Amino acid sequence: MPDAFAASGLEKRYGRVEALAGVSLQVGEGELVGLLGPNGAGKSTLVKIGCGLVRPSGGRAEVFGRPAGSREARRALGYLAELFRFPGWLRADELLRLHQGLAGSTGGAAERDELLELVGLADVGRRKVDQMSKGMQQRLGIAQAMIGTPRLLVLDEPTSALDPAGRRTVRTLLEELRGRGISVLLNSHLLSEVELVCDRVVIITRGRVVAHGRPDELTQARGVSVETDEGERRFDLGRDEVPELVARLVAEGRRIYGVQVIRSTLEEAYLEAVEGESR
Ligand SMILES: Nc1ncnc2c1ncn2[C@@H]1O[C@H](COP(=O)(O)OP(=O)(O)OP(=O)(O)O)[C@@H](O)[C@H]1O
Ligand SMILES: [Mg+2]
Repeated sequence: MPDAFAASGLEKRYGRVEALAGVSLQVGEGELVGLLGPNGAGKSTLVKIGCGLVRPSGGRAEVFGRPAGSREARRALGYLAELFRFPGWLRADELLRLHQGLAGSTGGAAERDELLELVGLADVGRRKVDQMSKGMQQRLGIAQAMIGTPRLLVLDEPTSALDPAGRRTVRTLLEELRGRGISVLLNSHLLSEVELVCDRVVIITRGRVVAHGRPDELTQARGVSVETDEGERRFDLGRDEVPELVARLVAEGRRIYGVQVIRSTLEEAYLEAVEGESR
């Protein structure tokens, strides 16, 4: 079974700018992968190559085993661009109908209604795009990407304009999509959100992968905090050593009120990976 998305040794030069300097990454079937990195790291370039909108200077990109940009590859994926702009005079429902035509979807009104409902826009289907708030337009953009039930969704910063409730709607939606076996490649700067929803995270800086793994692998334990009758004490140990530590403290006569393994946040792991690279 081929991966939903596979990049190997991808390179992209825009004149003198080296946007990608050999990036390899995979999105497995039904996997939700978050692509993180500073402004200008090459994230959008990478996903545009995946969609066939940008031609790589080197390396390979495939969607379900088909070359990125080929008809089969494009058919299998839905894409939300980072700086999209929909025609302001179209109503939400009309916009989706236009994109159904472009994507060759035969889902009709039932698909449009279902998608508007999924992104929490059921009440504003008749509203024109230029009368919608930024966050509403972004959710409409996500609905647009889901037309035709693509097996791979490529979302370039889908929640940047959303309020906390809107973000939760999208998060729940992404979890539901994963439940249906849909693969997602997501660009985001919202680390806490990525940590909550992504199966795997890939961090790129200056066109190179500098860290990757499951969120719980990247946010490794940073010691153990123990609350005793003598107050709170911090130990520089891993989780595996907690039982011995507690046994030793108890043997020493301490009373234990709480034990907490302190993990770094994804933000800390991210900054370490990114700053380590620029040093
Ligand atoms: N069409 C283009 N022509 C020339 N340079 C480009 C073009 N598109 C992107 N670049 C350059 O390539 C590099 C990577 O840009 P890219 O948009 O992929 O970054 P990004 O990681 O998506 O950043 P952001 O977080 O700001 O969206 C940047 O230096 C950018 O200026
Ligand atoms: Mg970008």
